[in-house]
Amino acid sequence: MECRILSGIKPTGQLTLGNYIGALKNFKNFQDQGECFIFIADLHALTLPIEPDTLRTNSRDIAAFYLAAGLDPNRCNIFLQSHVSAHAELNAIMQNFLYMGELSRMTQFKEKSQKLNQEKIGLGLFAYPVLMASDILLYDATIVPVGDDQTQHVELTRDLAKRFNNRYGNVLVMPKAVVTKVGARIMSLSDPTKKMSKSDQKGDIYLKDNPNIIRKKIMSAVTDSESIVRFDRTNKPGISNLLTIYASIKEISIEEAEKNFINANYGTFKSAVADAVIEALEPFQKQYYEYLNSGYVDLVLEKGANRAREVSNATLKRVHDAVGLL
Ligand code: AMP
Ligand code: TRP
Repeated sequence: MECRILSGIKPTGQLTLGNYIGALKNFKNFQDQGECFIFIADLHALTLPIEPDTLRTNSRDIAAFYLAAGLDPNRCNIFLQSHVSAHAELNAIMQNFLYMGELSRMTQFKEKSQKLNQEKIGLGLFAYPVLMASDILLYDATIVPVGDDQTQHVELTRDLAKRFNNRYGNVLVMPKAVVTKVGARIMSLSDPTKKMSKSDQKGDIYLKDNPNIIRKKIMSAVTDSESIVRFDRTNKPGISNLLTIYASIKEISIEEAEKNFINANYGTFKSAVADAVIEALEPFQKQYYEYLNSGYVDLVLEKGANRAREVSNATLKRVHDAVGLL
């Protein structure tokens, strides 16, 4: 079978530079490796409270960001998870094959649920990995490009596929997570021990930030008192994070990035990082706004959903037959 690539982003907030480096920027490179399914995980966005208007805006935003990042609707199926009912249907079956013990050990669940009133943890948040596994398995995806925070979910999907196939024969295709070498985990600029995420902090660069703001945020990034630009995650988390950002954007190794700044002070270094980020994001943002205001996004989503339905319904049928649903 040819290789199938699948990934998604959930429309829970403003996309960050972390999403760009860890996910978006790499997606286009997969388009020639096999059939690509890149979706917007809008059902997953409901696992934490979100305003309807925010969800709608974020969902269309991500579609436009996908296009701006170079995804070509003729070579890649871009769609909304909620437009393809097979996701919810496979979820209903697969929830019987993952266990509460396993789900309660997921790092993402532990982190997200900790912040909530323990009486009010939604079942959907707990069962998040079941839906994610369904997303992946529906497309017989062999390659799942994700940032390193998502590999645990892909591992669980593999366990599920194995468990299901042991019971019912060779029904599901085994997926594999592919994590980018440099930039799998971009940290907050104000607290480089925390992941840069859609949800919070002043030290996060948003993909819609204008160049002045981006520069300001990078120039005030937390560093250390050593004033040598070298990579050392433990002792120099701030500088290491900036080096990672620089290397990923320039598509060079960390070592090469270090060499560029052997005698540079932190001000010069930060300024070069800001230049690199702005240079990459400016054309990207321009394209994003063009797509967003064009109406093209809806056409792309419709076309993507049509193809996604074809493929996912075939898998769903296989699963129905395997478990004995008439
Ligand atoms: P999320 O924002 O959790 O929906 O993530 C969407 C995709 O972006 C996933 O593949 C994540 O692993 C990736 N991602 C999110 N935040 C970061 C980050 N700070 N660094 C690298 N990749 C990230
Ligand atoms: N859980 C992913 C995230 O938070 C988003 C996602 C949902 C996903 N379903 C997926 C990613 C399937 C890859 C494959 O980033």
